[in-house]
Amino acid sequence: MTVIPHGLSNGGFVRDLTDTLCADAVPLDRIAAEVGTPAYVYNARAMRRAYRTLEAALAAMPVTVCYAVKANANLAVIRIFGELGAGADVVSVGEMRRALAAGIPAARIVFSGVGKTEAELAAAVEAGIGQVNVESTGELRRLSAVADAKQRTVDIAIRVNPDVDAGTLKEITTGTANDKFGIAIDRVPAVFELAARLPGLALRGVAVHIGSQIVDLQPYHNAYRRIADLVGRLRGDGHVIDHIDLGGGLAIPYDREPRVDAAAFAAVVRETLGSLGCHMTIEPGRYLVGSAGVLLARVVEWKEDLARPFLVLDAAMNDLMRPALYKAYHPIVAVRGDTGEVTAEVDVVGPICESTDVFARARALPHLKAGSLVAIGAAGAYGATLSSEYNSRPLVPEVLVDGDRVAVVRKRPSFEEMVGLERLPPWMEDSPAADRPPDPELPNAEFPNAELPNAERAAE
Ligand code: LLP
Repeated sequence: MTVIPHGLSNGGFVRDLTDTLCADAVPLDRIAAEVGTPAYVYNARAMRRAYRTLEAALAAMPVTVCYAVKANANLAVIRIFGELGAGADVVSVGEMRRALAAGIPAARIVFSGVGKTEAELAAAVEAGIGQVNVESTGELRRLSAVADAKQRTVDIAIRVNPDVDAGTLKEITTGTANDKFGIAIDRVPAVFELAARLPGLALRGVAVHIGSQIVDLQPYHNAYRRIADLVGRLRGDGHVIDHIDLGGGLAIPYDREPRVDAAAFAAVVRETLGSLGCHMTIEPGRYLVGSAGVLLARVVEWKEDLARPFLVLDAAMNDLMRPALYKAYHPIVAVRGDTGEVTAEVDVVGPICESTDVFARARALPHLKAGSLVAIGAAGAYGATLSSEYNSRPLVPEVLVDGDRVAVVRKRPSFEEMVGLERLPPWMEDSPAADRPPDPELPNAEFPNAELPNAERAAE
């Protein structure tokens, strides 16, 4: 049996007796046959497992888990956490509406983000969401005016920038003085003074989020210590602080790094903030969904025409941006295990016309033939949500596996759907090109199974 990297096994991707990689009980080759490739495949039970692990670790403290929707915004995924009692952390009206549409009660939604527009703030107040994490004095004034005009009061926390380096990739660090997020910690008392005087706001506490994929707990410790000191100071100034938002950032294994130990994280929270008597929220995204997803792709060819071999896939950087954007590592395995082929070191690439369209350099893989399937692991977070239609490649479908059940939870758009919002301007409508006969019926090679309503049949 071929060994599966930790980044995949952690999300419940296992090999069956024929050495085929499965999402829980469902072989991935069956999903590829039904839905086509590329496709995202998510494992619902692994998502629930991650949620319960975190919830259990934090159980002794008054903590609400608010799932960070940006990690994976599919309605079915949000619903999974809603069913478990989670709230949601959103950063746009679009995400807020997704959370509401998936059944998360408004009171359990926290609205974060550095540039909320007046229209977004108005929509949040209108929806009666639980808390707005305010990131600037400008936003504080805008929100106050919006709420006051509607004769409403909105619960707020001030997002604090603690100037702590999260020790993660510089692209996903958010809590240092160089980052655009929050309000510098030494300026927060003055902002509290202002907030306490403005109408329409109920000042509840503070929020902090220092970054993402945080492996080492020490930065959390440093940031939460500073928050505890700040809370003491603010209380000394006469403010009532009954809520602290801990942010997200808990790491998952991609390569050899460990999954952050939820119990050890809980111990940090208890030690630094546990005695303050505050209700807390935590905003994990990646930790809950990252391991539980793969990007399923097919080999177009093993290309031997250059100095070193390239494995060309039908998935590309537009489908999974993280390697191109952050040089992020993702495990890659053949769906059919021990193929008996000699392993070689190969650059794994997509078909896009950019040299950054690379999933991995010098990766050891069997010599895979055209048509073989591979799974790119740990792609459940910031995979589909960061994807685009670059090169006019349709967004890839998303498939949810729950035990032995399978459903397409986002279908692959047809060509017509992909261009459906585009219009020729009126002055081009009568130009000669418009007199051409319509395109002949083209084979739908680029859009395999675009019309497939769902993949229930795959489970039969
Ligand atoms: N709360 C706030 C205010 C955030 O900005 C974020 C993530 C989270 C929670 C959730 O963080 P998580 O638990 O998922 O680490 N695209 C990057 C990650 C960007 C994270 C942005 N903020 C990546 O693919 O690594």
